Amino acid sequence: MVTPNNDMPPIPTTRYAHIVGWGMAVPETILTNDDLEAIVDTSDDWIRSRTGIKERRIAGETESTASLGLKAARKALQVADILPTDIDLIVVATSTPENIFPSTASLIQNWLGANRAGAFDLSAACSGFVYGLDMAAQSIRSGSMQVALVIGAETMTRVMDWQDRGTCILFGDGAGAVVLKASNVEGGVLSAVLRSDGSGGEMLGIPTVGSEDLYHSDFSTHGHKMHKMHMNGGEVFKFATRVIAESIQQALVKANIGIEDLSLIVPHQANLRIIQAAARSLKVEPELFAVNLERYGNTSAASIPIALCEAIDQKRLNSGEYAAFIGFGGGLTWASMIIQWTGAKTPDARSGINQQRRQFSYMLVRWRTQWKRLNQQVSNFLEQITFRRSRIQRLRDKVDQL
Ligand code: COA
Repeated sequence: MVTPNNDMPPIPTTRYAHIVGWGMAVPETILTNDDLEAIVDTSDDWIRSRTGIKERRIAGETESTASLGLKAARKALQVADILPTDIDLIVVATSTPENIFPSTASLIQNWLGANRAGAFDLSAACSGFVYGLDMAAQSIRSGSMQVALVIGAETMTRVMDWQDRGTCILFGDGAGAVVLKASNVEGGVLSAVLRSDGSGGEMLGIPTVGSEDLYHSDFSTHGHKMHKMHMNGGEVFKFATRVIAESIQQALVKANIGIEDLSLIVPHQANLRIIQAAARSLKVEPELFAVNLERYGNTSAASIPIALCEAIDQKRLNSGEYAAFIGFGGGLTWASMIIQWTGAKTPDARSGINQQRRQFSYMLVRWRTQWKRLNQQVSNFLEQITFRRSRIQRLRDKVDQL
């Protein structure tokens, strides 16, 4: 502890960022491999044997990246027993944002009633959640923030080319969220390794506004469709199997622990064969990995927090145990992280009251947004009247001078 002078409280010299809340949300509609057979030339057998995927979730008409992210966020706040007004920062990792701007994070910030929070979207494809978690953890560890909400949310099925059987069979929709909180107790996020190799950008992407492809006179986008995902599956497969083991090893060294200390690895859920290859490279049992891709497919930035939520539900992590997260994808980007698990706060006397306060805050949102807009319209109206009055007064003054 450092005490600057007698009047000021001591500044803690060591702060940690702990995961204290988590939540996930997936759409109800299921698209099975059999359903896909009616859309593209594929088969359940091919998809299962090459990827491990059996089905995926598809967002309905009233669902979106923000609405799924909001659902996951509300659950995470409930587990953390935190009020929306306690949040300092909201990061949404996504490749399928609602808009370029306003950000999906700002939409969620408003819907939660997180009036003290900064909010932004983070674009690092399927590595985005780990990138966001590290950015938020560092903000907390530096002392500039107390509470951060990190969300991975996607509606990948809306950027699929449903004629491309090489990609449309892989992806699904969903969201996962965690709450990070400052603490002086050792643990939480211990280390992270973030990497990028833009030279491999052409391997997978979604051409959109500002794309260099727009400068091609024929708008050919190198043969890729605007706002649709394209991928070189074979090359991505090789890249993924190369970076996973290497990246986890680097994060373990930074955290000063060994692979044998890990109780769980939560990988990006892209392909079962990629995860099996990583297990072989790391010389660990495949069971160490949390795998749920058979039910959700690849949900990009949402896949790690969703798999984490399910692993917690299955009691695969106990307080004090170590876990690794590993994401990889477009950019190219990849990112790994080592955490020491904290677990949920035991509900206390205030938990019930906090729950009611959160519900009240969510109810107020619509009213608050409308009120702010009305307020803005009234002030614009009053400003116009004042402006007109002053013009009339100036005209009168001129007439008087004549
Ligand atoms: N159904 C049936 N056949 C298919 C098919 C499908 N959905 N997709 C491709 N095929 C065919 C190909 O046309 C090819 O046929 P051919 O031999 O007659 O030319 C054959 O299957 C083999 O294709 P290939 O691309 O070599 O298959 P693969 O074993 O590499 O598997 C992926 C393809 C996409 C499943 C695999 O490359 C992969 O998972 N890559 C990583 C993708 C990924 O994880 N992306 C996200 C990263 S964040």
